[in-house]
Amino acid sequence: MRVLGIETSCDETGVAIYDTERGLVADALFSQVAMHAEYGGVVPELASRDHTRRLLPLIQQVLDDAGLRRDELDAIAYTAGPGLVGALMVGASTAHGMARALNIPVLGVHHMEGHLMAPMLEDSPPAFPFVALLVSGGHTQLVEVQGVGRYRLLGESVDDAAGEAFDKTAKMLGLAYPGGPQVARLAESGDPGRFRFPRPMTDRPGLDFSFSGLKTHTLTTLRQLERAGQLDDQTRADVARAFEEAVVDTLVIKCRRALDDTGLKRLVMAGGVSANARLRERLAHEAEKRKAQVYYPRGRFCTDNGAMIALAGARRLLAGERDETGIMKAVPRWPMETLEAPAGA
Ligand code: KG4
Ligand code: ZN
Repeated sequence: MRVLGIETSCDETGVAIYDTERGLVADALFSQVAMHAEYGGVVPELASRDHTRRLLPLIQQVLDDAGLRRDELDAIAYTAGPGLVGALMVGASTAHGMARALNIPVLGVHHMEGHLMAPMLEDSPPAFPFVALLVSGGHTQLVEVQGVGRYRLLGESVDDAAGEAFDKTAKMLGLAYPGGPQVARLAESGDPGRFRFPRPMTDRPGLDFSFSGLKTHTLTTLRQLERAGQLDDQTRADVARAFEEAVVDTLVIKCRRALDDTGLKRLVMAGGVSANARLRERLAHEAEKRKAQVYYPRGRFCTDNGAMIALAGARRLLAGERDETGIMKAVPRWPMETLEAPAGA
């Protein structure tokens, strides 16, 4: 089955074709980052407008790259949520329009299920069951995954997501949007011994996260340093390092706990923050100590992309799932635990 995947939930237009026999055959992405950088964050209306400009040419591009005609597609999967509704509607309406014209099935996919499946695009895909750490701009979750659609939420952020905390910290440090990669780059030249920031919610049992206090702590520290006339470039890097260490340490502590609680030996990390090199390094080290395996997607499939949506959609479309009565779906909130396993899985 050849599935066209469409991702338009936020600031990236992603399109891909996944063949259930041959794997990923084409993928293309247009990132709106430069456009939103001017405003210091995603402007939803501009995002929607840009998806309308980019989507059809990108679909043509992946068809050309794969050497396929439109009528050789067997199904279409699109991101139906969670995300910005205006942006989601661009993908949803295009998917439904094309599917109707081609008379093929169409299915709205959960964005985080897409992220969760992304490591399965790699050569040594993780087997079920596993613990998934989903860390993106909008979500920080630990999920026990028994199979497609068989999810048990172990813990999540009670306030800011990890990526959001990175983005806000970047702003405080005067770095451009999106902040995660920039904070990580600055942190490289930072001294890990100069400041120690709190590791929120690690001193009590449980698997929930909270990053808003850490963000406030960073802001207060920066203000104090500025008042004292000490906020030079090296100090900025030291603060970035202390912040990154605190987030990474917190995520590692909770992953360790999740593996202990579930008794599982496989950990999957996905979502934009899983591109963070220090987090990968620390989790790899942790896994080695307990003879567990860590899986993550290649860099460009950590952040939003069409390939993960094509793959996640393919799993469900193969099992016969379709959008009910041909109605398109675009929802801002969609708890992952409400998903169900495809029939027969
Ligand atoms: O998954 P994603 O592309 O979009 C959402 O679904 O939210 O994640 C984007 C988030 C942003 O907050 C970005 O700052 C963060 O991932 N991010 C990183 C890194 N690369 C991207 N955070 C820390 N370190 C990185 N290297
Ligand atoms: Zn995402």
